[in-house]
Amino acid sequence: MTPPVTDDCWLRYEEVTDERRHEAYRTYCANAYVSVGAPELGAVRDELRRGLGEILGRTPHLWQHPPRSADGFLAVGTPEEMQVIHDSVVVDAVDALADGGFHVKATEWEGANVLVVTASTDRGLVYGTFHLLRHLSLGRPLDGLDVFEEPATADRFVDHWDNPFRRSVERGYAGLSLFDVETLPNVDERYVEYARLLASVGVDGLVVNNVNTEIPDRPSANDAMSELGGWRLLEPRYLEKLAALASVFRRYGIRLALSVNFGAPERLGGLDTADPNDEAVERWWAEKATEVYEYVPDFAGFLVKADSEGQPGPYDYDADHVDGANVLARALEPHGGRVWWRAFVYGSHSDRAVQQHETFEPLDGAFHDNVTVQVKNGPIDFQPREPVSPVFGQMPETDLALELQITGEYTGQHVHACYHVPMWKEVLEFDTDPEGHGRRVADLLTEAGSGLAGVGGPGDDPNWTGHYLAQANLYGYGRLAWDPDLDTATVTDEWVRQTFGHDPEVVETVTDVMHDSWPAVVDYSTGGLGLMHMMYNGEARLENHYDPAPGEWPGYTGATADGIGRDRNARGNGYAQQYPEALAERYDDPETCPEELLLFFHHLPWDHTLDDGRTVVQTLYDNCFAGVAAARDLRDRWDSLDGRVDEQRFRHVAERFDEQVVQAERWCRTLTAFFYEHSGVPDEHGRVPADD
Ligand code: GCU
Repeated sequence: MTPPVTDDCWLRYEEVTDERRHEAYRTYCANAYVSVGAPELGAVRDELRRGLGEILGRTPHLWQHPPRSADGFLAVGTPEEMQVIHDSVVVDAVDALADGGFHVKATEWEGANVLVVTASTDRGLVYGTFHLLRHLSLGRPLDGLDVFEEPATADRFVDHWDNPFRRSVERGYAGLSLFDVETLPNVDERYVEYARLLASVGVDGLVVNNVNTEIPDRPSANDAMSELGGWRLLEPRYLEKLAALASVFRRYGIRLALSVNFGAPERLGGLDTADPNDEAVERWWAEKATEVYEYVPDFAGFLVKADSEGQPGPYDYDADHVDGANVLARALEPHGGRVWWRAFVYGSHSDRAVQQHETFEPLDGAFHDNVTVQVKNGPIDFQPREPVSPVFGQMPETDLALELQITGEYTGQHVHACYHVPMWKEVLEFDTDPEGHGRRVADLLTEAGSGLAGVGGPGDDPNWTGHYLAQANLYGYGRLAWDPDLDTATVTDEWVRQTFGHDPEVVETVTDVMHDSWPAVVDYSTGGLGLMHMMYNGEARLENHYDPAPGEWPGYTGATADGIGRDRNARGNGYAQQYPEALAERYDDPETCPEELLLFFHHLPWDHTLDDGRTVVQTLYDNCFAGVAAARDLRDRWDSLDGRVDEQRFRHVAERFDEQVVQAERWCRTLTAFFYEHSGVPDEHGRVPADD
């Protein structure tokens, strides 16, 4: 079978085989009356043609009025535009839905079966349409259908770390950037395909370029002013291209945003400073924002990485993050735009974990209304497992966004399978102040001005993500951003069935493989007790974050002859004390600290015993070997699907699993040797070569 040029991911829309279901779907959906007007409705019609065409096995008839002769039809539009909808729903309930919310209902109207998809906004009609198509793809019944949904949070972004002039993608493992500055404003068909994928899971915003606007691929400090930096996208000739891209994504309810360089007034504007408290700088940003909105009227705003890893920021001008964020916010405010100001700032402390809370918490309440402080889920950097950042729940007067990494920078870079949804669920469910306000991270995100940002990764590979199973992370991110209360099993089941069909053996096997993949990666690449960042970094140009190199950053492991771990507790650098009391107490005591984070918070003797009587070092050995066994098991379970999944996807994933096993064994060898080298304690089961 020839591989598809572009994989459909979860939008495969397989024809429904069950006859009764087929008949019911046909009754409601073979004729569709779709309102006309907004650009989004063009996308709705296109999707219905594609989706219903495949699911029903024939192209639906699209009408501009109710099809009187049919025994049933689908009606998509707002109650204001369409009488049938106005008559069939509670209009006030629809009007009360948040932007993007929708109502899908099976009912009767003038003797015909009618399936209504309605919303108060055109974006909601797009989501309602995708919801319906998902419902059909999952083979669910239509009779009695009556669904109201709205997004938990208004901003559900995918942030691309794409370097537009090189088309490289920082931490991308799926080929080149999807976006081609050279050929824009000509529109590539793949932009539409990508917009469909994003909209189908409710993503409504897209940052098109890398937060490192100044150092493409961070080759070396000498390239800091490189002509290839994304900072140039604010030039009019590129804004014109952005406008073309925006019009593609607008049809799917997706707004574009840009990462901007804090030094832009100097770099682009020729000013002699970018000091946020300078009047000329304030004017420059205001004029630039106005210009951007002339090209892209629904532009979402600016994302900024400032004072971090070589990017310029307010500290360069004796100003602080509030000054920096607010000058941009004032510029965007008249146009309805927003600033996402990243909290990923470190460098001045010997342990980066402590810096974000220390820097940002004192600034609570000082940011402009249209500033969102964007915080990574953990205090370090998208590790396979880390505690939830103490910034969450402790800046009540500030809008916060949760930044997650969709791409697998530290989780095997799409060579290894690693499903991030269970990890993200832990973050979303985390109670940020158990004996205080008791709000979970998910609860914080429902406030106006808050949101989610998923760091992208999709590239121009035919399968979008490099590894077919990594598509699930893009899917899961969107679904959780829409509804953080969805449980992992639901998200996985939706994804598996839409992606691989309904063969029970395939569904069960792929589901289990997905659910067991993250624990395996945690075990073999960290030892499962809260160690992290043992990936090879090396020189800037070679930095890979993929290979095992536990000795490279002693500061992360804290390994010595007498023990391992970091004292991020009251005896140590006081990181645990950044949390509200109940959490600080829990983390501060090795007896109550969750075992999976133990060595993140504590430096403990190698022979310290854990609850089950095993020592720290033995548990690290055991977990590393368990991770390898789990990786082999994932591979074997996948291999059992030979002949049940199409050859293209089966082979691709099988080959990756073969490689994952080799790499897991390598991780295990390297980590266990490292633990032995420092502890001098042999593995009880003799698996670690003692004199290697
Ligand atoms: C990590 C990552 C970088 C990225 C940075 C960020 O350090 O390795 O590639 O630039 O995070 O989030 O800004």
